Amino acid sequence: MRTYTNVKDLGDLNAAVKEALEIKKNRYAYKHLGENKTLLMVFFNSSLRTRLSTQKAGMNLGMNTMVLDINQGAWKLETERGVIMDGDKSEHILEAIPVMGSYCDIIGVRAFAQFENKEDDYQEKILNQFIKYSGKPVFSMEAATGHPLQAFADLITIEEYKKSARPKVVMTWAPHPKALPQAVPNSFADFMNEADVDFVITHPEGYDLDTKFVRGARVEYNQDKALEGADFVYAKNWAAYTDPNYGKILSKDMSWTVTTQKMALTNNAYFMHCLPVRRNMIVSDDVIESPQSIVIPEATNREISAQTVIKRMLESL
Ligand code: CP
Repeated sequence: MRTYTNVKDLGDLNAAVKEALEIKKNRYAYKHLGENKTLLMVFFNSSLRTRLSTQKAGMNLGMNTMVLDINQGAWKLETERGVIMDGDKSEHILEAIPVMGSYCDIIGVRAFAQFENKEDDYQEKILNQFIKYSGKPVFSMEAATGHPLQAFADLITIEEYKKSARPKVVMTWAPHPKALPQAVPNSFADFMNEADVDFVITHPEGYDLDTKFVRGARVEYNQDKALEGADFVYAKNWAAYTDPNYGKILSKDMSWTVTTQKMALTNNAYFMHCLPVRRNMIVSDDVIESPQSIVIPEATNREISAQTVIKRMLESL
């Protein structure tokens, strides 16, 4: 595996989940693969889970791991060609990327959508420059339009907790005080559309996601109706995708918060969220603290999804 940016990069999805669950049983079994190999994790944005779980995954595989926070201690990077660099950016990304590539064997990159230009965000300009110019296998640690390590961990978690062969999985928009990218819901949809689940997306009108990710999924604008009979409720906020509102907050409607009353509409569903989560905006204290909340096992599986991807990359070196 040379790149990991979406569900297709995993090939046979059932086989990938099976491999992940095998790794989880003995996460140190492949320590020899990473001997004398270096993982570089480059962060343009903050992180708790991705940083720790990916570093742990690399260490489980016997790798040396390095972390670079671009906005804390590194030179500020210019990302556009043709710019006269007389401002506060001291280095161009076109030199920085091959230099970073020369110090490592595999690179993980986190670079969120900036909501300045939809085309730039959806072209994944930063991630794709790493893929093009680093000379090394590159995986997304959440880019502008996707968070495939999160969605893979989500699928592993659903596989572990499902009580029927084809569970109903509902991804619901929920309110949030800040404009958030579509990366997590895009990737969750990308994965659920390939998994053996009954997948429903619910959100207020105006929050439709890119059809490239929604594909054949059922979209229901009535949250209560969507939640009926759900086996898994996956809550997430995102800002508007469609023009002319790209990146804008259109609603903070608190009737979309996942509460005990909302969960009562489901088939005793498990509650999921990628974290970090704003309590009593996205989900009530009662729901996230309930026995049906699986947000911690979900986060724990981030180590396993990362390890599966890095293992495959090591095998391809
Ligand atoms: N879910 C997730 O990616 O968490 P962090 O932003 O803390 O890495």
